[in-house]
Amino acid sequence: MRIAALPNGEFQLEGRSLTRILSFLSPVAFRLRDLDCPASFAVPKLSVLSSGAKVNGNRIEYESLRVEFDDELNFQVYVNGVKALASRPYKPAELTHDDVDIAKKEGHENGSADSSIGGLSFEFNGPVYGLGDKTGPLNKQGYAYINWNTDDPHPHVETFKSLYKSIPFLLLFKPELTVGLFFDNTSLCRFDIEKEDPDLVTYGYSDGSLDLYCFFGAMPDVVSDYTSLVGRNPLPPRWALGAQQSRWGYLNERDVLEVVEGYRKADIPLSVIYLDIDYMDRYMDFTVDKSRFPDMAALTGKLAKEGVHLIPLIDAGVKVLDGYKIYDEGMENGYFSTLDGEVYHNEVWPGDAVFPAFINPKVQAWWSDKVADFLKETGIGGIENDMNEPASFKGPLPLEVEMGGLPHKLAHNVYGHCMDKATYEGFVKAGKRPYVITRAAYAGTSRYAGAWTGDNNSIYDHLRLSIPQLANLSLSGFANIGVDVGGFGGDCPDHLMQRFINASILSPVLRNHSSIGTRHQEPYAFDEKTAEIYRKAIMTRYELIPTIYDNLFLSLSSGLVVLRPLVYNFPEAKETYNDNSAIMLGESLLLAPSLMAGEIKRAVYFPDDFYSYADHVLYKKGWNLIEADERSLNLFVRDHSILTLNPVGTKTTDFQSVLRLLWTGNEAACYHYEDAGDGLGYTKGEYNLYLIQADEEHGLSIVPVHLGMPSHYKEVLIETFDGRTIRRDFVLKD
Ligand code: GLC
Repeated sequence: MRIAALPNGEFQLEGRSLTRILSFLSPVAFRLRDLDCPASFAVPKLSVLSSGAKVNGNRIEYESLRVEFDDELNFQVYVNGVKALASRPYKPAELTHDDVDIAKKEGHENGSADSSIGGLSFEFNGPVYGLGDKTGPLNKQGYAYINWNTDDPHPHVETFKSLYKSIPFLLLFKPELTVGLFFDNTSLCRFDIEKEDPDLVTYGYSDGSLDLYCFFGAMPDVVSDYTSLVGRNPLPPRWALGAQQSRWGYLNERDVLEVVEGYRKADIPLSVIYLDIDYMDRYMDFTVDKSRFPDMAALTGKLAKEGVHLIPLIDAGVKVLDGYKIYDEGMENGYFSTLDGEVYHNEVWPGDAVFPAFINPKVQAWWSDKVADFLKETGIGGIENDMNEPASFKGPLPLEVEMGGLPHKLAHNVYGHCMDKATYEGFVKAGKRPYVITRAAYAGTSRYAGAWTGDNNSIYDHLRLSIPQLANLSLSGFANIGVDVGGFGGDCPDHLMQRFINASILSPVLRNHSSIGTRHQEPYAFDEKTAEIYRKAIMTRYELIPTIYDNLFLSLSSGLVVLRPLVYNFPEAKETYNDNSAIMLGESLLLAPSLMAGEIKRAVYFPDDFYSYADHVLYKKGWNLIEADERSLNLFVRDHSILTLNPVGTKTTDFQSVLRLLWTGNEAACYHYEDAGDGLGYTKGEYNLYLIQADEEHGLSIVPVHLGMPSHYKEVLIETFDGRTIRRDFVLKD
């Protein structure tokens, strides 16, 4: 093989039968691609280092990285002389088995054929994380998955190969050196994670070409480098961190007001109500059924006074109806997807439906105008993008459907991504802080939208699934995320809701959502015991909002993961590698909820000393048996940490005039972020960032890192777990 340095800093690799390009993104990351890679949806802007890399025969060396190739361009990577990654020729991700057709007769869908046209395998035997919110445990070892955005309403269990999102980012975890692999290809892709061969991780793509990014380092650095490439979740408005209530079936203004009233009577704070498809006129996007919501702007204005924001749902499919503005404009301008030159029809909620050709930037600009107008006309706070896989009721869209410059087979996994981009841009046009949550996504959709994990069920399996799903989605670059609390499908028993809310208080998107036709799931629709447990959980959540907001800011500014599997913070502790039943927010909060019906106690592995948040009991590092019944809000604070909190009893998401600091142990530090809570001022520097530091000798100090606006704070309350409370004026140290 031969390596030639190109004038732009890239390297051309000539193998016996193929040619590829390698470029360094940093001293710990490179990209390896085929010659004919299309423009990326995930990577908005790529700067290649015109590095001082040296070519030496079949190897390229750059600082601590050395990449060696053989004649077939298989490669080995060494970091500081230690072998970190070795590729092997592609081995099919999933084997086809003989006689599988007979199993289909009884309804079994085993062993689908592998249609990959290329790929790579990597030598690896160890924990693998990432891949978005796929089903199954945290560690994906032993599983195979397919990236093809899929709306499948059956209960999501670990035999599912695909869900709504396709995020081709994997972490091959080793405590000392983790490898991040990002396979930027939008076609149907397959992953075999040490399933067929326990020593191989295999990736195959069904169309397009190889475009691989490899990152090396500690797990947090690898994730941060990946998100700095594909983009990070914008900061949500602070109100969105409050309690959110949703249900498919709030039919009219009265239903919405009843929710507000129900929460008020139950004495539970509420910040967001979602409007599902019911608010629309015959399920037509950007319309409001005036007979049921006579004046949406007046309603949003009225609710805003009570601190409640409305978030309507928008679907990808557009109703076919002459005289409906969106349909007419789309038809006039050729903005809908086509098949053989004709506009392609399928069926979604509005019946006969067509699909905006979202890949086309002109269609995105048109849609973003509609979003901006809708935001201005109605005063809504955010938008939920749904059915954007795209979902369809009359069979899947043919692979040849043209979606604005790409056939469906390449557009499918980025269809929702482009809808989210258009929606995000609509907020920017309207001068509002974007709040978009999406069901479908690709790598880099994080630049535009947060996400929820789609249609889970009111079952204990899905309560348990929520932890690894949110952890892996976080590691795949999404910060502003949540699951449908209580479960979307099915009837939620009281004891499940009690546990679900306790298990969800750290999720940035804390949304209770359920399907039409199921038992009502608002907290006041259950018995008084459930309402009481819900109230306690939500009141704790409102205390935690400053910490959650701080972490969302740090994720945007530094790529730090918000919801973390324990392994992220404690890579040396083997007990964390397969921990599917606890999750952390940032560095110091740990939640180990009750996850089983009738459970009374459970085991928790604490990778450090932790205190219980509620009663300040110290749990020493190691295995502990803890109370875990339906009332247990098992939230713990790490020793030697500082938490930023709202005063006890806070019922709004507004910044308070008192900043509470909970200080455990001795030496500790954290950042605190403050802004207007909404609007785009923070993007122009209108925010304050503080470094809060403490130790026994010097006490606690608040050091400004950035001051860009007047502070909300007048007082600071320093609390320690040994019972001391110090109240003092909010004074900054120079
Ligand atoms: C989809 C969404 C769900 C929504 C329903 C009706 O199933 O995932 O959240 O309630 O459509 O719009």
